[in-house]
Amino acid sequence: TPCAAGDRPIVLIGPMAVGKSAIGQQLAQQLDAPFVDTDAVIVEGHGSIADIFASRGERAFREIEARTVARIIEAAAGTATVVSLGGGSVLDSGTQQLLERCTVVYLECDADTVAARIAKNSGRPLLAGDGIRRWKALFATRKPVYERLADIVLDVRQGTVPQLGLKLEAAL
Ligand code: S3P
Repeated sequence: TPCAAGDRPIVLIGPMAVGKSAIGQQLAQQLDAPFVDTDAVIVEGHGSIADIFASRGERAFREIEARTVARIIEAAAGTATVVSLGGGSVLDSGTQQLLERCTVVYLECDADTVAARIAKNSGRPLLAGDGIRRWKALFATRKPVYERLADIVLDVRQGTVPQLGLKLEAAL
């Protein structure tokens, strides 16, 4: 099927718990394209993210993350692979450069939308303790980066995953 975005990786960015993996998976299914979740690849290769943070620290995690993301995006070049990134990965300048050759989709939301998912906190070390407060603080500093990198902004405050997948496909 023709697609205005052409054969470029479609990369989903945005804060933790916004639904990057769920919507990415949905979009990939619609496009009959491969889907890669960079956090899942990190976990396969290095163990759980919580363990990496606990035993080796955030800086080591960021190095692993930058290498993994680069490998995935380079492998996906020239294809319409759908890729979901961890919320903090876009702060890396090498990653930012690689995103220039991708269609970057920023999933936009607010704290209320993600509150229930944050409360469940599935293994996100940066949300330990007062998760909502920490999510808001991280989002405040990262929001301008997400906005600057975005080719497409998808408001995910309303709609089911399938609805948002169709909306995103129409926007490509
Ligand atoms: C992080 C986001 C997480 C994961 C790690 C750090 C962040 O990914 O990479 O816990 O710094 O925002 P999700 O955005 O998929 O939760």
